[in-house]
Amino acid sequence: MDQLTLQLGDRVAAGGDALGRLPDGRVVFCEGGLPGETVRIELVAQRRDFARARVVAVDGPSPERVVAPCPHARAGCGGCQWQHLAVDAQLRHKVEVVADSWRRLARMEPPGGPPPRQVDPGGYRTTLRLAVDGDGRPAYRHRHSNGTVAPDHCLVAHPLLEELISGVRLRPGRPPERPAGRGRGQRDPRAPEIGLRVGVAGGERLVVPSGGAVVVEAPVDAVVVGPKTEAHLHEDVGGRRWQVGGRSFFQSGPQAAGLLAETVSAAAGPLAASDTLVDLYAGVGLLGGVAAARAGCRLVAVESSPGAAADAAANLADLDAEVFAGEVEVWEPVPADVVIADPARSGLGRAGVAAVASTGAGRVVLVSCDPASCARDAALLRDAGYGATSMAILDLFPHTFHMEVVTAFERP
Ligand SMILES: C[S@@+](CC[C@H](N)C(=O)[O-])C[C@H]1O[C@@H](n2cnc3c(N)ncnc32)[C@H](O)[C@@H]1O
Repeated sequence: MDQLTLQLGDRVAAGGDALGRLPDGRVVFCEGGLPGETVRIELVAQRRDFARARVVAVDGPSPERVVAPCPHARAGCGGCQWQHLAVDAQLRHKVEVVADSWRRLARMEPPGGPPPRQVDPGGYRTTLRLAVDGDGRPAYRHRHSNGTVAPDHCLVAHPLLEELISGVRLRPGRPPERPAGRGRGQRDPRAPEIGLRVGVAGGERLVVPSGGAVVVEAPVDAVVVGPKTEAHLHEDVGGRRWQVGGRSFFQSGPQAAGLLAETVSAAAGPLAASDTLVDLYAGVGLLGGVAAARAGCRLVAVESSPGAAADAAANLADLDAEVFAGEVEVWEPVPADVVIADPARSGLGRAGVAAVASTGAGRVVLVSCDPASCARDAALLRDAGYGATSMAILDLFPHTFHMEVVTAFERP
């Protein structure tokens, strides 16, 4: 394949690639490149308005470039995308990606706020979702092929989890039929996958197969969570113990959960005992639970996953709390003083913003894991009368391009 030499621009895109321009003027997303570098690239996809490329050689490296600390990342493991970028520079680029998204998509400057923060970059993950390789081992997908990388060590996995990765063997179930309409490059939801989870506080280890994967070997202490069997892990965060079901959402690890819960509580501002706090997309009740327990105020949590809603009900049982197990879109809004909303990657959208606004809350704390949906939701909230007052950017997934943005909004 032909190689091209390019001078890369000064920023990265939200998906982690450095941006450059092809001789014909099209933007090219360069995987493996860093801003300001002179690189040789190979085009891997071409569209009318843009192209995608892979960096095959770096002729003029950025001062931010480092040797990826993990040998699997150097060999193409797709688990981390940014190991070649110095850890402190990762945080700086995440901040720039958020500001750029707000300017382009919301036509707004992001508000100021506390300095960005990052969890420890090694051993922070307590949950992983992996593919299954031909030998039945849990494996990351390869960055540049349909292959997999089965890690013996994983830089970002908690030691308890790392041990579980190498102790589990699986047999893929019947090959799934390809669902109609599924295009190239989209992951088949029925491909064999394995969720591996550990509880640092409780010491539990859970194996959660999906897509027909069958567990044939696991350490004796590990519990296999099946369609009809549930198991829980436990974490200590914000001065409370949290029960988390095998399929319930939890942050990347307890340190991340603690940092996020602290940041959200600070953004929620002082709550009075007479206030009502609403926590939308509440998961196991973490963010609203930490804030409401401190204030002694009433809490209404809304969560669509039945398992996570059951965990939330158990976790919040000692508080003045009510859990609505259903979708935000069908929940009947109640009057609230403050709303916390932590939607999935697609963001609040119009329906979520309508639910937030219907509570009449004067303050909203939006937690976004995608910079584009963060900017779009900010614009929708602005149209609903909410102005952004502060923003905190957290790196809960070092060595990847993922970030968490906590934005506070107020409406007179
Ligand atoms: C990003 S997680 C946040 C969970 C929680 N705030 C935490 O920090 O642990 C989003 C949660 O929203 C739930 N969810 C997704 N769509 C939803 C909807 N339409 N209505 C209510 N909950 C939803 C998911 O099941 C998931 O638990």
